[in-house]
Amino acid sequence: MCGIIGYTGYSEARGILLKGLKTLEYRGYDSAGIAVYHPEFKEVLVSKCEGRVEKLDTKSKDVKGVAGIGHTRWATHGGVSDNNSHPHKFGSVTLVHNGIIENYAAIKNQLGIANKLKSQTDSEVVAALVDYYYNGDAREAIISAVKEISGTFALAIMFDDIPNKIFAVRNVSPIVCCSNENGAYIASDIMAIGEYSEDYFVLPELTIAEITEEGIEVSDFSGNKVEPKILTLDWDIKNSGKMGYPFYMEKEIMEQPDVIEKTISSRIKDDLPDFSAENVDDSIFTQCDNITVIACGTAMHAGLIGKHIIEKTCGVPVTVNMASEYMYNQPIINERTLVICVSQSGETIDTLEALKYARKRGARSLSIVNVKGSTIARESENVVYTNAGPEIAVASTKAYTTQVAVFYLITAKMALLRGNLSKDGVISFIKELKKIPDAVASVLERRSEIHHLSNGMLTAEHTFMIGRGLDYPALLEASLKLKEISYIHSEAFASGELKHGTIALITEKTPVIALMTQSNLMSKQVSNIREVQSRGADVLTFVKKSLITKDVDCSFDLPDLEDDFMAVPAIIAMQLLAYYVSSDKGLDVDKPRNLAKVVTVE
Ligand code: M6R
Repeated sequence: MCGIIGYTGYSEARGILLKGLKTLEYRGYDSAGIAVYHPEFKEVLVSKCEGRVEKLDTKSKDVKGVAGIGHTRWATHGGVSDNNSHPHKFGSVTLVHNGIIENYAAIKNQLGIANKLKSQTDSEVVAALVDYYYNGDAREAIISAVKEISGTFALAIMFDDIPNKIFAVRNVSPIVCCSNENGAYIASDIMAIGEYSEDYFVLPELTIAEITEEGIEVSDFSGNKVEPKILTLDWDIKNSGKMGYPFYMEKEIMEQPDVIEKTISSRIKDDLPDFSAENVDDSIFTQCDNITVIACGTAMHAGLIGKHIIEKTCGVPVTVNMASEYMYNQPIINERTLVICVSQSGETIDTLEALKYARKRGARSLSIVNVKGSTIARESENVVYTNAGPEIAVASTKAYTTQVAVFYLITAKMALLRGNLSKDGVISFIKELKKIPDAVASVLERRSEIHHLSNGMLTAEHTFMIGRGLDYPALLEASLKLKEISYIHSEAFASGELKHGTIALITEKTPVIALMTQSNLMSKQVSNIREVQSRGADVLTFVKKSLITKDVDCSFDLPDLEDDFMAVPAIIAMQLLAYYVSSDKGLDVDKPRNLAKVVTVE
């Protein structure tokens, strides 16, 4: 959470910093700020405000200088206000921070600075601590301060008496770095600076980067030079804009046939699943007795689809865990447990900490990650990258469907290696999987019908989504999508469970969405729909086409795939429904209130 950026070089810094902050805004958009070394005043000057980067743009018009740092905030310590915005300046030290300093209150007391602080943030205390230790040696001051703080942090720091130089240090929270003939750049993620160089590196934890217009030097706390591993950006940054769509979410929904196809086709060889390009070790599939999926939010919902398919096809028990709860629930793991972490960003701290916990206890690990070189990818024994490309909208769409696609590939691979399916059986599984992109495209082509259906939801305050079997986990994701971007309270229920209490909430004011894609559960689902209709609910039904009979009311027919593959076309319809409700309500679809795309606090 929070985005940080830094630039020093031969151009005016303000434009570069603001452009980077605009890209990083999805990490938090409560407030924004920049600090630039002013060549005439010979000090670092700060311009910041609560609100979006656009507001900062207007406010900071006069900022001059060729080196600076910037920040976009998701508030943790201290409310949303100008004073709590970053950068924070204390004495001659100015810094931006991403993360949480757990012992900031103790440090504040120890330094006796309570009445000198201008904000309620943990970050300003770090600026004060660096200033306290600063006596002309910036590196030593930063090292002394870092040794005293506990928590997660990515810090970019400038000093009034060190013109045009930026220092960076991190623990857990990410910082990536790159340089070109025009200067050197750092940011929380590569999307903010990828246009300046294809080659970049992730700053190793607890090392110090010294950034000047000449380039970036990295050293450890003992002063030894560190040569970080150079990565190459393989995302097309030029196509990372909205490409004419009003919101990133719509663009990202529409990209799904293409990115699902890429995710699948790059891992099929001779009609069989193939992870050899990423060196995934077959033994993780053959030598496990059970699977533990660890993830948060939408990524966890992808894991629930994975559970259904793996258990059904391979007979291996799968538990799906909310990462934030995992290590506190006495998890049963050993060296025959395969942990599968799922994360779009690869930076979600709950997932990362749970992965470290499981690995310490001997579990094997595989992560399904979208962002190359991210922390979860680096901490995991094996990685399969989804080919979703940059996902900017806070509401995850294409990351989810590509994660689900990887779960199908994992299922096919396990079934082949463990003999659950014959070779021909796996070939026909893969054949069905390859039909998903076309099925998705056919739902997208009919998006105006879904737009029309969404009108009935615009004034709803509450809604329920009901389904059975595989439809239930698909609806958990559909429900999250609707609530996070439309602010309609929505709950997904296994249809049969409703009558055990929750049906008391159904009235004529509660629209119900019913999903019907599982042939063996049709008659029971029809009865459950009748139960809510009898209580006055309007029901929108999304039904697999070949399952429509005279007993089944259908609001939208979904393209036919085998039942186990229906979760993907179904979720596309649900993503569109949520999108249209949010945009027609006039909401900021891409940046829903209180949220951030990358969640780096526990
Ligand atoms: O980057 P991750 O996939 O680890 O993020 C996990 C969740 O924070 C994320 O999926 C969140 O639930 C989305 N906002 C849902 O749209």
